[in-house]
This record gives sequence, structure tokens and C-alpha cells, in this order.
Amino acid sequence: MTNVSRREKGMGERIAWGEELKVGVHIIDEEHRRLVGMINRLDEANRGKECLEEILNELEDYINKHFVVEEEMMTVYDFPEAQSHFKAHHDFRKRIHSLRESFKDGELDLPKSLMDFLVNWLKSHILGTDRVLAEFLQEKGMP
Ligand SMILES: [Fe+2]
Ligand SMILES: [Fe+2]
Repeated sequence: MTNVSRREKGMGERIAWGEELKVGVHIIDEEHRRLVGMINRLDEANRGKECLEEILNELEDYINKHFVVEEEMMTVYDFPEAQSHFKAHHDFRKRIHSLRESFKDGELDLPKSLMDFLVNWLKSHILGTDRVLAEFLQEKGMP
């Protein structure tokens, strides 16, 4: 799949990293690329190839590191839309946490729910909110 906005990602369909997913700031793009890799691995986990718990731990670690990088940039460069961006990150963390809790309680099909949530995040946050931030950072001279 080369374009996430073209259609919903189905199970077994990989997201290909490409220009259309880039926001234009190198350090942010490299991290987003890692997230796409995790979404693809999650799909494999759902089909029993990988340990889901391992991917979830990596995802949580990733989220913490990546959000901190973006949040520090917003603070350093005094990004005018920082508050709403921070809030989006906060809501994301909460959602991942509650998905994990539901999974522990055996309530839901976690890989599918998590993957739907992450693909949605890719489209709404990375291709929307993060892109606005990236344009701002580029104006400030960030490569
Ligand atoms: Fe991001
Ligand atoms: Fe972000």
C-alpha cells in the first residue's frame, strides 16, 4: 500500500514508507518511519508471527521518545500551536494506555483495534498536525 489516505489499511496489507508520508523535517520523518514499521509488525503479530507484548513495549518506548522530541522542538522554537499539539499527544498516550488495559482484561481484539487507531493517527496527526509543525520548523531553518 503506497498511500494511506487512498483507502483504509486492511489486515495483511503493508504500509509502504514513501514521500507522501514525509513531513519534511528529517529527524521527525525518521521517527515516523519507525512507527510505520511497527504498524506493519503489529499486523504480522496479529497473524501470530511476532510477540504482541514485545511490539507494545516498543511502541510505548517509541511514543515517549518521539513525543518528547517534538515537544522539545515546539518549546525551543516557541511554536504558536504547541498547546493543542501537546494535548493531541496526551490524548494519544491515554488511548494507548486504555487499549492495553482492555487487552489485559481480555476484552478486545487488540492488534486490530490498535492498528486501526494507529493508521488513523498516521492520517490525522502525522499528515495533519505534525505537518503543520514541520512547516513551522522548516521556516526556522530546521533541515
Ligand atoms: Fe509525530
Ligand atoms: Fe506530533
